[in-house]
Amino acid sequence: LFAGETDFLKGVVAMSGLPPADRVEVCFAGRSNVGKSSLINALTGRKGLARASNTPGRTQEINFFTARDRYIVDLPGYGFANAPVAVVEKWQNLLKQYLSGRQTLRRVFVLIDARHGAKAVDEEIMTLLDKSAVTFQVVMTKIDKVKKGALDDALAKTRKALSKHPAAYPELILTSSEKGEGIPTLRAIIAGIDA
Ligand code: GTP
Ligand code: MG
Repeated sequence: LFAGETDFLKGVVAMSGLPPADRVEVCFAGRSNVGKSSLINALTGRKGLARASNTPGRTQEINFFTARDRYIVDLPGYGFANAPVAVVEKWQNLLKQYLSGRQTLRRVFVLIDARHGAKAVDEEIMTLLDKSAVTFQVVMTKIDKVKKGALDDALAKTRKALSKHPAAYPELILTSSEKGEGIPTLRAIIAGIDA
């Protein structure tokens, strides 16, 4: 599913540049460097589709991909980024406008590093999504990098944070873009979201 059926559509730097809201849309949000772009590449089976790198702040636009009859959206990270303050502020504002004001946005996947669990900035985004009544689901990333005990701690911390957020989908997804874990599950979820 989605393999060979995904293409880059456009990078958006202002709300006025968004493509027509004419189909189901899902997006990937999360702290800089958490693995958003890598996850999109793993989902679509196309390594260089979304640009990923070890420099926080790699993705600086809202990048739209078409996948069958839906949009998959890669977002700039929130939190620390390796870019000038004024530039970061501009894209953080756009990010917030997009997350709270896009009518066809059916689900936001909030990515959280499996080594760290939910942090304060993740909760800020969750609160924004609660206020806008946008359903979100947490995806734990980089599970290949964490031992079982540490994973359990991060999960407990994240579940505790989630319990305070009415817009949260209760089920977490555990993924590794590197090893492929959780990727089929995530694909099935995206494909199954109703219009
Ligand atoms: P920004 O665009 O800067 O916000 O970052 P991003 O969230 O898109 O992260 P990106 O996909 O660019 O990945 C950041 C770094 O983490 C890269 O060096 C990736 O190779 C690495 N990475 C991403 N996912 C995984 C994973 O599942 N396992 C491991 N081991 N590394 C990963
Ligand atoms: Mg990125």
